[in-house]
Amino acid sequence: MRLPYLYTLYLVLFAAGFASAQNVRKTTSFNAGWKFFLGNDSTANAIKYDDSRWRKLDLPHDWSIEGKFDSKNPTTQAEGGLPAGIGWYRKNFLIPASSKAKTILIDFDGVFHNSEVWINGHYLGKRPNGYISFRYDLTPYLQFGTQQNVIAVRVDNSDQPNSRWYTGSGIYRNVWLITVNKIHLPQWSSFITTPQVNPQKAEINIRTVLPGSINSKYKLKASILDDQAKVVGSVIIPITDTVIQQNIRVSNPQLWSVKRPYLYKVKLQLIAGDKVIDDYTTTTGIRYFNFDADKGFSLNGEPMKILGVCLHHDQGALGTAVNTRAIERQLQLLKEMGCNAIRTSHNPPAPELLDLCDKMGFLVMDESFDMWKKKKSKHDYHEDWDEWHVKDLQDQVLRDRNHPSVFAWSIGNEIREQFDSTGVSIGRELVKIVKQLDNTRPVTSALSDADPKKNFIYQSGALDLVGLNYHQEVYADFQKNYPGQKFIGTENMSALATRGHYDMPSDSIRRWPKDGKTPLKDGNADFTVSSYDNVSAYWGSTHEETWKIIKKHDFLSGFFVWTGFDYIGEPTPYLWPARSSYFGIVDLAGFPKDVYYMYQSEWTTKPVLHLLPHWNWKPGQTIDVWAYYNNADEVEAFLNGKSIGVRKKTGDDLHVMWRVKYEPGVLKAVSRRNGEVVMTTQVVTAGEPYKIQLKADRDKINADSKDLSYITVSVLDKNNVPVPDANQLVKFKVTGQGILKGVDNGSQTDLDPFVSDQHHLFNGLGLAIIQSKSVAGKITVSANADGLQPARLVIQAKR
Ligand code: GAL
Repeated sequence: MRLPYLYTLYLVLFAAGFASAQNVRKTTSFNAGWKFFLGNDSTANAIKYDDSRWRKLDLPHDWSIEGKFDSKNPTTQAEGGLPAGIGWYRKNFLIPASSKAKTILIDFDGVFHNSEVWINGHYLGKRPNGYISFRYDLTPYLQFGTQQNVIAVRVDNSDQPNSRWYTGSGIYRNVWLITVNKIHLPQWSSFITTPQVNPQKAEINIRTVLPGSINSKYKLKASILDDQAKVVGSVIIPITDTVIQQNIRVSNPQLWSVKRPYLYKVKLQLIAGDKVIDDYTTTTGIRYFNFDADKGFSLNGEPMKILGVCLHHDQGALGTAVNTRAIERQLQLLKEMGCNAIRTSHNPPAPELLDLCDKMGFLVMDESFDMWKKKKSKHDYHEDWDEWHVKDLQDQVLRDRNHPSVFAWSIGNEIREQFDSTGVSIGRELVKIVKQLDNTRPVTSALSDADPKKNFIYQSGALDLVGLNYHQEVYADFQKNYPGQKFIGTENMSALATRGHYDMPSDSIRRWPKDGKTPLKDGNADFTVSSYDNVSAYWGSTHEETWKIIKKHDFLSGFFVWTGFDYIGEPTPYLWPARSSYFGIVDLAGFPKDVYYMYQSEWTTKPVLHLLPHWNWKPGQTIDVWAYYNNADEVEAFLNGKSIGVRKKTGDDLHVMWRVKYEPGVLKAVSRRNGEVVMTTQVVTAGEPYKIQLKADRDKINADSKDLSYITVSVLDKNNVPVPDANQLVKFKVTGQGILKGVDNGSQTDLDPFVSDQHHLFNGLGLAIIQSKSVAGKITVSANADGLQPARLVIQAKR
């Protein structure tokens, strides 16, 4: 087949009649006004079914997070012990008579899992994979005008256990209704690449695959818009084949980078005569990158380390129901730490995560699977592998390949086939699927066997990058063991910590569980783990141990810390009641653990001086004081005004330490460069708990029933000193134009529900998540606890 290939130089077209101000294609949210029933009823797909008693709700929705933690739930502790089961959703809707000649499509961004969909009693299909986006054509079965339509969705998450982490249950991502003309651009039909980029010009290539019905009667116009929506180049060509290639040159291109994530838009218009009959806009970015076996990674020609974290998809107390602000908050916290990359462990992410990474400047390793044919949990995706893996992988690549943030594909995490020869055949098959749809990005797999001779996925020869999980002890020898290969640390550390908990002495490293077995025999009776970055899973390392190695060698392109945030499920090393993970740099509620500041001191240039632990101990107790700092050559600490010594990091040190006899009062630290003070900080002994303090991360939010304000709750003494071990039960009341969406405290063992109007604090902190309603106005949040002065705070919801 010969491809029509039109090469257009600076062709800026404003052909009258072609440029339509309004979009022809209508994409509207289909989230509002659903009904939900938790349980099974095989007749609920019928048009006439009586759902009047069902609960009314808006999507996205995760029913598991509303349930009770219970070790007996079949999800097991691995999924946080929350309930799963079967749920039904129904929605009645009208389609205007004016749409009779249109095609009406429905897009589900993700349903966990085994969804089945009916429209007006007609079965549309099943999609087992809970992380994949899918579309149905509703047109043939719809009624128009005043006649009601009903869509029914059955979600079956009862096949437990089916995951090693919390998945959530339900239509947990967004749903869209798309109205297009009969002749329209198919889903994910264009692939946008930048084959040539230099500071003077960039070439943007748009390759569009069309069905035979879109023939030479039609033309395709592609326009590039800059971030001010100004057209900077466009091209229009007649459609003479099923594959259309359009090239547009952009002069003085603004490159996309993690520091300056400049975005362009590509607008495609399908034209018949002088009429636009469909249009579709995709965000893109102009950038190039390279992995080098000796020099590591570079973006736009500049060397840079990939400083990444792995993320699971839950949003703590909100469960897995997608909320853009919740994801944005996570990314903001990570950005402030200096993180520049996300690995979507171990599944296709929500589209909103990728949009935010494009916008905020994060690289993304987009991962497909946690297992292939061989299972990790009894009923996981291995059961769907044979029938679905080709389609699921294709759809993931097609959906995500236009995001500038996506820089690598991972075809699997710690896949069991790496240990036998099927790793070769399946590895090759999957890489081929990816490359057929995207040959611009490297493909890797997160390997847990670091022996190149024994690892069959590596032996397949199909991987562009050798992705290693853990085994940091062999990284220095990588070039010897994998000659000519390119390295990426796909998953590292698995260090463990409970925010605000400190066990001493701090200068010996523990591997938990020690003997590789749970229950942990020498753990803490209260299921805590010290947050002096001195405890890790036995297969991993502390944060400092691996970062020192990655930092040292240029050929180590970078890595992904397991994990950026704690997540629900997988509470290694403890048994119940531990129900969420200990691996995060930030806890489940979004409160940074101390090691956050180690990364910030290393990964950013902003001045850091962070002192730990808190200063409420028993008089005479020996306390290890640590400081993370940068931009300075020494730190001096003072206890109640008396110097306890000057410390300097030497060699590859990442912190300094003092061992002191505790006395209550003020512990102060001063960092200095060339004798000049850079920063000072202090921790102060708190007295008796006296009052509640509320602090909102944003005191103005949008009145769109989605936006969130995260309120940090703490307890202060009479002198406004935070009480580090406060654990009071705080009761919330929210009035006005907002609701209390969830509560948390970052504890890994708290079995009180996240959806509640009260919660205990944990190690001095609590969280209340407020969501706006659709009306502008004041939201008043009050907090009360026995024996404490109450607190009140007002948030404005704006239109
Ligand atoms: C890895 C695995 C992750 C997580 C982690 C915990 O082996 O890839 O999904 O389970 O261990 O340490």
